[in-house]
Amino acid sequence: MSEVLTLALAKGRLAEKTFDLLENMGIDCSEARDPGRQLVLWDRKENIRFILVKPSDVPTYVDHGVADLGVVGKDTLLEAGRPLYEVLDLGFGRCRLCIAGYPEKNTDSVSHAVFRVATKYPHIARSYYGDMGQSIEIIELHGSVELGPVIGLSDVILDIVESGSTLKANGLQVLDEVCDVSARLVCNRVSLKTKRARVQWLIDGISGQLE
Ligand code: PRP
Repeated sequence: MSEVLTLALAKGRLAEKTFDLLENMGIDCSEARDPGRQLVLWDRKENIRFILVKPSDVPTYVDHGVADLGVVGKDTLLEAGRPLYEVLDLGFGRCRLCIAGYPEKNTDSVSHAVFRVATKYPHIARSYYGDMGQSIEIIELHGSVELGPVIGLSDVILDIVESGSTLKANGLQVLDEVCDVSARLVCNRVSLKTKRARVQWLIDGISGQLE
């Protein structure tokens, strides 16, 4: 019997897309696709264990080595800042991390002392404005971030933009692009050494689906 390989997947669309890739490799994802309230799901034949977790927790499970590999968005990876191996860009879950707001409001134009940035990504925001030598106040939100500038809580937002329709519906515009985002396959550093053959088998199998 081959060694157990544990995969941490971000619940939702990224997990569904990952199951498509894995099923094309012959991995049985039926239990993981329909987990009910179960948190640990298996393909017993291939000895693969799935854990389905919140996106922001994927890097935590992989970094601690309780998951060998994970699939998560580049935005979440950047924000987590954990020392994981990013082994593949899976190409789905594409969007952009952007600064958005009203074009007339920038760091030079606001009257109050500190420029306020609403975001779910405080570390990325600190680093982005830190690189520009700009001090800011971060207002951490966990959803509907676009409300920040609309209602006067913040001057701008740093958030993901996919279709752009949320910005448009709220009269906001992209002011700068921080980076492109897509789903990434990440690996624990120790697993890459101790389970090298198993991990490589999975990476090669997924990689073959992308070509
Ligand atoms: C995300 C993101 C934006 C929106 C962007 O929010 O935070 O609000 O999607 O997508 P669009 O450019 O296609 O409009 P999500 O739908 O995840 O909800 P949330 O704001 O409650 O986190």
